Amino acid sequence: MMNITFHSSGRVFHLQGCGFSYISMILPNGQLGQLYFGAPLADRDGFEHMLVAAHRDMAPCPFEGNGDFSMEDIKQEYPVNGNGDLRNVACVIETPDGARNADFRYVSHEIHSGKPKLAGLPATYVEHDDEAETLAITLQDDLLRLQLILSYTIYRDLPVITRNVQFINDGNSSVILQRALSTNLDLPDANWDMTEFTGAWGRERHPQTFRIHIGVQEIYSLRGHSSHQFNPFLVLKRPHTDEFQGEAIGTALVYSGNFLGSVEVDNYHVTRLMMGIHPQGLAWTLAPGEAFQTPEAITVYTCDGLNALSQALHTLLRTRLARGYWRDRPRPILLNSWESTYMQFDEAKLLPIASKAHELGIDLFVLDDGWFGHRDNATSSLGDWVADRRKLPDGIEGLASKINALGMQFGLWFEPEMISKDSHLYRAHPDWMIRVPGREPLQGRNQYVLDLSKTDVVNYLFEAMSAILSSGKVSYVKWDMNRSITDVFSQGRPREFQGELLHRQILGMYALYERLTSTFPKVLFESCASGGARFDPGMLYYAPQGWVSDDTDAVERVKIQFGTSYAYPISSMGSHVSAVPNHQLMRVTPLKTRADVAYFGTFGYELDVNAMPDDEQRQVRDQIAFMKAHRELIDTGTFWRLISPFEESEVGLQQGSEAAWMVVSADRRHALVGYYRMIMPLNEGYRLLKLAGLDPTATYRVHDTQFPLPASQFTYGGDELMAHGFDISDTGFGPFTTDMYQGDYLSRLFEIDAV
Ligand code: DGJ
Repeated sequence: MMNITFHSSGRVFHLQGCGFSYISMILPNGQLGQLYFGAPLADRDGFEHMLVAAHRDMAPCPFEGNGDFSMEDIKQEYPVNGNGDLRNVACVIETPDGARNADFRYVSHEIHSGKPKLAGLPATYVEHDDEAETLAITLQDDLLRLQLILSYTIYRDLPVITRNVQFINDGNSSVILQRALSTNLDLPDANWDMTEFTGAWGRERHPQTFRIHIGVQEIYSLRGHSSHQFNPFLVLKRPHTDEFQGEAIGTALVYSGNFLGSVEVDNYHVTRLMMGIHPQGLAWTLAPGEAFQTPEAITVYTCDGLNALSQALHTLLRTRLARGYWRDRPRPILLNSWESTYMQFDEAKLLPIASKAHELGIDLFVLDDGWFGHRDNATSSLGDWVADRRKLPDGIEGLASKINALGMQFGLWFEPEMISKDSHLYRAHPDWMIRVPGREPLQGRNQYVLDLSKTDVVNYLFEAMSAILSSGKVSYVKWDMNRSITDVFSQGRPREFQGELLHRQILGMYALYERLTSTFPKVLFESCASGGARFDPGMLYYAPQGWVSDDTDAVERVKIQFGTSYAYPISSMGSHVSAVPNHQLMRVTPLKTRADVAYFGTFGYELDVNAMPDDEQRQVRDQIAFMKAHRELIDTGTFWRLISPFEESEVGLQQGSEAAWMVVSADRRHALVGYYRMIMPLNEGYRLLKLAGLDPTATYRVHDTQFPLPASQFTYGGDELMAHGFDISDTGFGPFTTDMYQGDYLSRLFEIDAV
């Protein structure tokens, strides 16, 4: 279902999406009111009675003599400062006289098939116009001659509505945008739980759920990147909603810089969900004739639980946000040098690792940080993207040729947005650093941030990276970003520019990505920011995969990948098997467990394969063969979360003791189930693992990939596997019982195939 109708009698817009309705109207004062967002409604004339307005003491009212109509409590499409809405609003505009009032009234609207691009910003797209329909409503502030265009796109096959906002200055004076968010949703009640995805370095995107309350609850970044601390994605769900049933709304911002996600419950229990660029520090001068485009916000609606919400986002992000050559192709299995050599390497040390990796079936060797300038540690050389001949006598081209000659692809790490004080680049262009004149800038990891609002800087980086990529021997780039942006000031630029810098920095980064990805379309880009500090929808537009976290411990990775899966497809999650004791936690987990976690991602290794004993090397060879055989199922299948590592389990095991997830092929004939039993309980009761997403009428064989146990002789109904489950008891009499599964940090991987 996909239909957008304008009912001129009541001046009502009805967007009938795939599985939801969204209804708004032109209010008596010409502004836009929000009426409904929820389960699908049949279209008809006469939704305008959904506008609820009531007399409230002290409310500011636009119509003299009518105390019942006030923007203070009316649900709105895009609340603006100065029109009587005294809650947090979506936009604040400073006018030339210093006032902060705006009054946008309906002028016209357009409904058309397809979805236009957003200038300079990443956004979801369509391949054919019949996949989506777009409504663009133009409003105008007559005094300022400032236009506001609110755009909405709904998709034929996905329960998604995307929004973005454009400001166009048709007047004769500049205005300053101090707040210009991308979306606003006013929901009529406050009976919601909110889930945010929060953490810090090494423990990114842990879901945290709480009951919303009167007042403001926010997620945000003020770090110049989307951050480890909060992801630009939040969920509102009904208190009884779980993974498999119930109503939920998820909103994500397609942006990689400072953001704000705000949920405000007002004193009349209206819930206002807003998301967009964080207003703190923003002061964007919009001169006559200029336009400002906000990033896109994606909102998903479901009545069928959180798995359904995530699955819709996965499909959208994987197939209509990620782009290019690698979008639908099986990604290479890579070995990254970071945790095997850190910066202490030379060619003689790297080549044997690559050679063994190739022998085991790995496709791509990635050289991480430390190959340029004279970078032996993190104190120097960022910006000098020229190979260190002490380590690599034949340069990158020479090393890449040798790796290619082994039959492997070669990949390289960059951190383009950064500069070290100890670099030729800094000595030549000290003014390219973001810093406040007269003050000593803060360092982070001993480094500083380049000013990508300057075209010269973007051009320099494009040339420096192109010089390496144009050899044609580098087929993968890991693009890192390892510090927050502080000392926000663009040297040599006027006062008015400074409030634009942080957003222009992101636009510059996107422009560089766009130039590089279009010049080198076959190079696979993986984004990274000290692990997962910039794992956001914006990056997926340029890099179809991202490094999820620097924490490569299998137990922690289950949590991080589980949390990340609420919004992001597993095909986008960079996941590697690393050495034990783990370098972050010193925890020792079995090689099998590490691989069983990493399979549910892009899969790769981050260790010295030569340091592994022969039997482990054999296991690695088998793991790679397994991943290659199941890659298509994993990349394109439907992902289901089954048991959360963040909750006490159904049988009373304490939070974090176990977790499970699965991926099911589109035809529902094959599935792969990962079960992770982190802490072994002693003499526990019988355990059944219930599956999801199978064909209830099909018959399946369940096969433990490690041990072909007698159970593989059994067959199960799809209905039975979903309603009753299958036995995974570790103690007691059960078809899978084996003492091989005794101990902590163990995993089991099951193949489910229709017979
Ligand atoms: C942070 C990344 O997350 C790591 O994987 C590694 O690339 C280092 N930076 C290199 O400095």
